[in-house]
Amino acid sequence: MESSMQLMQSYWNARYSQGHLWGDEPCPSVVMAREWFDKHQLKDILVPGCGYGRNSLWLAQQGFVVTAHDVSEVAISLGTTQAKRERTSIEYMVGDAFDHEFMASRQFDGIYLSLVLHLFVKQQRLNLIDRLTSRLKSHGLLTFSCISIFDTHNFGIGKQIEPNTYEKHPGKPLHFFTEEELRDVLADNYKILACQLHTQTETDPQGQPEDLRLWFVVAEKS
Ligand SMILES: C[S@@+](CC[C@H](N)C(=O)[O-])C[C@H]1O[C@@H](n2cnc3c(N)ncnc32)[C@H](O)[C@@H]1O
Repeated sequence: MESSMQLMQSYWNARYSQGHLWGDEPCPSVVMAREWFDKHQLKDILVPGCGYGRNSLWLAQQGFVVTAHDVSEVAISLGTTQAKRERTSIEYMVGDAFDHEFMASRQFDGIYLSLVLHLFVKQQRLNLIDRLTSRLKSHGLLTFSCISIFDTHNFGIGKQIEPNTYEKHPGKPLHFFTEEELRDVLADNYKILACQLHTQTETDPQGQPEDLRLWFVVAEKS
């Protein structure tokens, strides 16, 4: 019987075998995150769940020291090849963001997490935030994008498995965040510096463009 992480890995390996699924432009949220990293004079940035590296490559090209990992080895192979081609230095690794032993001794000035947090059910989301918090230095910045309840194309579609969590595609939870929940889950360890809505146009699994209504969050570790 495969664990949920092995299922996640095989799902994403299969998807990334089609290549750079969403193109090579950086996401709007990484452009916003960069401004905060600059403002706080941060240098070492961790990009968990980096996929094939559309955002990690861009951050490295802006001069940040980037470490990026993903559970999909196909994604990491794509990212490594592209970084070499572009002669850009990025430390890429295959690794599970939930694994307590993975990079246990490493801490970073900043974290950028794009479109990952909403892929999990509640207990996993809380675990993931704990893991990320342990990877951040004191006063480091956690920046991320995640889907919001205002995403009218996806919200409420499929089987509801938890509050505001639906399986539009069977076995693939999508959690739609409210601002209140974001503030609540970060309250113990962070001061929230920004929590704002924005739109990102993405390609769905059927290859169709869709406008995602996302939160962009910046939180400073206390
Ligand atoms: C929607 S994609 C976003 C990819 C990338 N952040 C981007 O915006 O291009 C979600 C990514 O999370 C990765 N992922 C899922 N679970 C993970 C885990 N436990 N540890 C590391 N990466 C994970 C998947 O392999 C996939 O690349």
